[in-house]
Amino acid sequence: MAAPQSVKEKHLYLKEIEKARQDLRALIYSKNCAPIMLRLAWHDAGTYEAKTKTGGPNGSIRNEEELKHSANNGLKIAVDLCEEVKAKYPKITYADLYQLAGVVAVEVTGGPSIDFVPGRKDSKKSPPEGRLPDAKLGASHLRDTFYRMGLSDKDIVALSGGHTLGRAHQERSGFDGPWTKDPAKFDNSYFVELLKGESRGLVKLPTDKALMMDPKFRSYVELYAKDKDAFFRDYAESHKKLSELGFKTP
Ligand code: HEM
Repeated sequence: MAAPQSVKEKHLYLKEIEKARQDLRALIYSKNCAPIMLRLAWHDAGTYEAKTKTGGPNGSIRNEEELKHSANNGLKIAVDLCEEVKAKYPKITYADLYQLAGVVAVEVTGGPSIDFVPGRKDSKKSPPEGRLPDAKLGASHLRDTFYRMGLSDKDIVALSGGHTLGRAHQERSGFDGPWTKDPAKFDNSYFVELLKGESRGLVKLPTDKALMMDPKFRSYVELYAKDKDAFFRDYAESHKKLSELGFKTP
């Protein structure tokens, strides 16, 4: 669907966005689905390739073909939940809706406010499988993947803090358990737990551990573990960048 053109259309679209934001708040609260909504927003955006300007936050994750990519196991739940809101506000693009859901998920769980600019276009074209990071690999794979999107070392560490929410599910990824003791709350405990090392009942993916082993990544982990405000400031900035990959403000 095309982005709105005239000033009047733009204004109406913004009003719809504000209403959808309220509905998403209520939906996320009632269904307790903040973590999977954040993961949906990240997986739609995180396929971006700066060189070819393909992938990115364009709603293509709703395509059956892309939902079947193994990294996206379980995300149909989030796509289906968003349909409720899409049905009420059909003018809003899927691309905007998924990114708005990610922003709201962070806010309603106590995280920072993230600036949201609407106007993303939808695409039916899915990127090839394999663009999202593989949790079994290490620091150089993380760099390859995020640099391909045009993101930095700081973005990698700040965004990994998204694992403050939710958990891994054996049947979806083969990993099991939450990263923190309160996975419904967005705070800096992911970094605190990372520095503590292994803790019974909590999960650490190889890519999480890589943040501890690489000296450049580790300096950010140490900063965010001791300074929640620094984490919130950098997270909000990196999340906005992720949500706007390949998107030019209309
Ligand atoms: C869950 C990998 C980055 C947000 C997961 C899971 C894996 C994973 C394997 C478990 C899925 C499941 O079994 O349900 C990775 C890797 C990353 C990464 C390798 C590379 C750095 C991110 C980023 C965000 C994020 C950047 C958001 C900013 C989440 C959330 C969940 C999750 C919220 C929990 C979902 C739920 O509870 O259903 N991630 N992730 N991840 N990821 Fe990541």
